[in-house]
Amino acid sequence: MSEVQVLLEPQYTVKIEQNLLERVQVPHARVALIADETAAKYHLTKLVASLEAGGSSVKVFTVPSGEACKNLDVFAKLLSSLALEGLTRDAAIVALGGGATSDLAGYVAASYLRGIAFYVCPTTLLAMVDASVGGKTGVNLIEGKNLVGAFHQPKGVFASLETLSTLPERTFREGAAEAFKHGLIANPALMQPILEPGFNAESSNLETFLKAVIQVKADVVAIDPFEKHQRAFLNYGHTLAHALEAVTVHKLPHGEAVGYGMHYAAIVGKILGYEDVTGHTKAFLNYQQPSKLPNLGFGDVEPFMARDKKADSEGVRFVMLHEIAKPNLERVRREVLLEAWDEFKILF
Ligand SMILES: NC(=O)c1ccc[n+]([C@@H]2O[C@H](COP(=O)([O-])OP(=O)(O)OC[C@H]3O[C@@H](n4cnc5c(N)ncnc54)[C@H](O)[C@@H]3O)[C@@H](O)[C@H]2O)c1
Ligand SMILES: [Zn+2]
Repeated sequence: MSEVQVLLEPQYTVKIEQNLLERVQVPHARVALIADETAAKYHLTKLVASLEAGGSSVKVFTVPSGEACKNLDVFAKLLSSLALEGLTRDAAIVALGGGATSDLAGYVAASYLRGIAFYVCPTTLLAMVDASVGGKTGVNLIEGKNLVGAFHQPKGVFASLETLSTLPERTFREGAAEAFKHGLIANPALMQPILEPGFNAESSNLETFLKAVIQVKADVVAIDPFEKHQRAFLNYGHTLAHALEAVTVHKLPHGEAVGYGMHYAAIVGKILGYEDVTGHTKAFLNYQQPSKLPNLGFGDVEPFMARDKKADSEGVRFVMLHEIAKPNLERVRREVLLEAWDEFKILF
């Protein structure tokens, strides 16, 4: 087993191993298990059995697959269900699923009785390397992604690697975007393994690779848990990504939007005279093979970029790479964004 410590108060551990779901136990008599309905089909039985073997009584709530669960309706229904079940403060929420499920379940845990314990069993690559670590929880509004939420750290994360083998190839490649991004902003050695032929859920070095990728996230979160500064660097590529997700009404999945968004940010950086990383981001898009974008104009995405959470009263701020592994948060002029859009648009 590999472990990454997230050095916050209180500290918690991300455990990474094959078949970990068979050993997940938590010190709570009652557990509300919030499970993505697709992930549940493959992986729920093992998890329930191990939680029960550890002495927890488990009530399962399945939620619609993926982003369809990440909204205020599902959130409100879950809260009512927990209240009807009579769950008390010493109960725990356990999430089983991808980032959408863990964001939703974490926000339920943050809100119910003003906060109860929360554990994550991520079942997508994206959730393992990014969403399950760091305590950002929340849901979407029609007006934009992740606009409502809370910081609520998990008490433990159990990345059980065999769950990745039931992921569609496309969803696996989607998650690789966040891993590639961690490489670009902090540890370039993490980029090459993703681009090597045969990088997939069965790769023999996956546990070691994921440990290194998760370490990047854990380090950033420990320095800046509430995103006052450095944590925003994890949003490389996300300003356009969130706009593309909103404008396509989530037809474009997050990881693919991030793939596109990183390339756009790289073009912006090149125009500003920073290190040209477009070769890397283009190589990533070649690996990822994201879905084609609809015919969009700058005017379609600009209003959503303006609502990005990194925006302040003076405008939109972008994470820019001055060099690989040297990120910075800065304002970018509209003319530059527009010029970059024209180059970006050639892609679709
Ligand atoms: N909280 C954070 O710090 C953070 C960081 C990054 C991303 N996110 C959020 O995470 C979400 C994206 O997460 P995601 O990429 O995991 O997507 P997701 O949760 O939407 O899951 C993607 C798809 O995979 C399916 N699935 C999940 N596990 C499976 C399995 N083991 N086998 C087969 N199918 C499975 C789901 O049903 C869904 O259809 C976005 O909402 C994004 O905003 C949050
Ligand atoms: Zn992301």
